[in-house]
Amino acid sequence: MKIVNGFDLLAYAKEKKLLLPAFNTTNLEMTKAIIKGLNAVHLPGMVQISSNNLHLSNPEVIAYMMREFLKGTDTPVGLHLDHGKSFDDVKACVDAGFTSIMVDASHLNFEENIKEVQKTVEYCHFYHVPVEAELGAIMGKEDDDVNEADCKTDPALVKEFVERSGCDILAVSIGNVHGLDAVAKIDLALLKRIAEVSPVPLVLHGGSGIPFDQVKQMRDYNMIKVNYGSDLRRAFIQTFGEAYEKNHNEANLYGLSAKAVENVSKTAADLVLIINGLKES
Ligand code: G3H
Ligand code: ZN
Repeated sequence: MKIVNGFDLLAYAKEKKLLLPAFNTTNLEMTKAIIKGLNAVHLPGMVQISSNNLHLSNPEVIAYMMREFLKGTDTPVGLHLDHGKSFDDVKACVDAGFTSIMVDASHLNFEENIKEVQKTVEYCHFYHVPVEAELGAIMGKEDDDVNEADCKTDPALVKEFVERSGCDILAVSIGNVHGLDAVAKIDLALLKRIAEVSPVPLVLHGGSGIPFDQVKQMRDYNMIKVNYGSDLRRAFIQTFGEAYEKNHNEANLYGLSAKAVENVSKTAADLVLIINGLKES
């Protein structure tokens, strides 16, 4: 398949009542593994890469790999910029063929956040590319990016934020955290209040480590996209770590990389099945 447009992917998930997992990639093997995992279980999802991780390659390389790995597949997959940090990154990703974009300006004040999102929306909507924005900061660690601000999404600001910014989906801060070091304390009552006033579907960051029964319940509160980064990275890194522990002279990079692809692909497949209630955790 071709990379699927973000609006179409969101509409497809809504129609089928599915949660879309958005899996973070860093490199070729992770990208291959995510697509393999989604295709193995015939469920839709997104491959996403953060501005940080883009420094290792570039949007053109990621989009090229996506197109190659999607050849011969038959499940809808989109390509998303995660935690877009600059307008240059946004433009580079849209120009490379990314099919949805996140602009992360949640560290700015309300008005500045709206301004940043408006600018991104104006550009992306020319190309029919949906935009994810974030209101309320999400604590924790994403690779080398540490955020210590704990600022939950205020339901009183949601409607105005969405309407003025023009965003198409909204990332919320409801006790979710990035990474596996901190423990998420999900406030489902807060999510319910946000869902009641949000004109657009919602996004959950920091999916790794959140109990699956809570994630599944979020389907009732207009949640459409759930981000998983650390769970997949751990599966990847563990493969190499275990091999090295067993043999400090281990040098079979090809063999271990292939094994890492299998492990990550299995993790991705399990996650998309479980959050959609199609497999027991
Ligand atoms: O944007 C990416 C994520 O929110 C991933 O969070 O590493 O805790 O799963 P996680
Ligand atoms: Zn995130």
